[in-house]
Amino acid sequence: MSDNGNASRKSASASTRRVARDGTRDGFAAGTDGRTAVAPSRAEPADERPPLRGLSDYDYTNFYFAAGTDPFGILEPFGEWWKDAEFDGGYYLYGLPMGSAPATRVEIGDPKTSETREGLINFASYNYLGLSYRPEVIEAVCDAVRKYGAGASGSPVLSGTMDLYKRLATEMADFKGKEGALIFPTGYSANVGLISGLMRPGDLIVADKLAHASIVDGMILSKATSRFFKHNNPEDLDRKLRGFSGKKLVIVEGVYSMDGDVARLPEIVDVCRKHGARLLIDEAHSTFVYGPNGRGVAEHFGLDDEVDIHLGTFSKSLGGLGGFVAGPAELIYYLRGFARSRVFSCALPPPVTAGLLKALEIARAEPELRDRLWDNARYMHGLLGEAGVDVGDSTSQVISIMIRDDAGIFQIAEDLLHQGVYINPVRFPAVGKHKSRFRMSISAAHTRSELEEGAEIIISILQKYGKCP
Ligand SMILES: Cc1ncc(COP(=O)(O)O)c(C=O)c1O
Repeated sequence: MSDNGNASRKSASASTRRVARDGTRDGFAAGTDGRTAVAPSRAEPADERPPLRGLSDYDYTNFYFAAGTDPFGILEPFGEWWKDAEFDGGYYLYGLPMGSAPATRVEIGDPKTSETREGLINFASYNYLGLSYRPEVIEAVCDAVRKYGAGASGSPVLSGTMDLYKRLATEMADFKGKEGALIFPTGYSANVGLISGLMRPGDLIVADKLAHASIVDGMILSKATSRFFKHNNPEDLDRKLRGFSGKKLVIVEGVYSMDGDVARLPEIVDVCRKHGARLLIDEAHSTFVYGPNGRGVAEHFGLDDEVDIHLGTFSKSLGGLGGFVAGPAELIYYLRGFARSRVFSCALPPPVTAGLLKALEIARAEPELRDRLWDNARYMHGLLGEAGVDVGDSTSQVISIMIRDDAGIFQIAEDLLHQGVYINPVRFPAVGKHKSRFRMSISAAHTRSELEEGAEIIISILQKYGKCP
């Protein structure tokens, strides 16, 4: 949202800045980008900062429809709100520029103060196994750049299928224990391409109410009849499937991306069987995290073969980019022709593919990474639980810290940033209205002291705002 050069705009008044622009205070030198480098300071008195200007409950729903005949008619009122929210000391805190790898400590540019905040404890990135910056992965990426150059320069059905790309598909099918796998440019396009490639008008798709936007968009594009069942509620799924005699597809996620809870897969599988519905599981956040071999939640429940279609992304645990669908060979052949988001889009860049192959090799060879991730996730759940922090239903490495205050969450987010924690506020449309939260991602790479320090900062700020006892 803010990768539009506004970092250089004149920002908040000097009184809101902790460190002089010449970088002389606290011994930090000015950053090369003209921002002032500033280390997180626990001693920084957050109360001295003026409250964020213009906090409001406005969100995208206020700007969806507009009167008049000009499609541009909505732009001016939206722009007014947007400028107020994002620029010149506004309250939005999205898309802050990161000047480092998405490791456990990161460097974040603060457009409001022109400071570069260094050494922030990172709970925002999905780098669950810390693989995006592993030296072996970086080496593989660099080798591939030298051999193949930057891009694939073609759709996978034409010239874009590099040998690396084929290998990735084969190795993913092997890892998932399926007959075939198909690679997509992103996890988003995997859902869109698969769902709209397989389902037709007159068919029925029933998805969990909290399904990711890419699932919803695939449903819309398919023009099949779309229904949603109450979150993780097999009884409601049963009701939604009743009385429909045509082709049926049920869609769930392994770990829900914004709630961190796990699909009640055994009961859902039973309901699907009862109604003769096919089942798709999106394991974006659970592949390489759950199951004895890291295949995901389906493997965790011993239901790998009962689930018809397995989908995932390479942008989370493998730290790269891309998506995959794994399943029976005939499904893969069919999607090669009908998944338009893949057919009509460029193949993954070879350096990314090479990085993914190396990351996959490491994830398979080092199950201890998964153990460490689970130790860390349990430890953080323990720290937050002891302090009485409301984590909703989360039980996984995705921990939602419930705030339930759509306007107020930005003030808390800013305090966290200033005190040394980088974690993203999540609100409508990513979650329901009045269900705003911080979405915390735990990584195998976090150290115990980072988890403890981060939890202490979060808990003290939540207490300040009356969000935990
Ligand atoms: C459940 C789910 N599916 C799909 C995606 C899309 O994946 P990608 O970011 O690789 O496009 C996400 C991304 O957050 C997700 O959470």
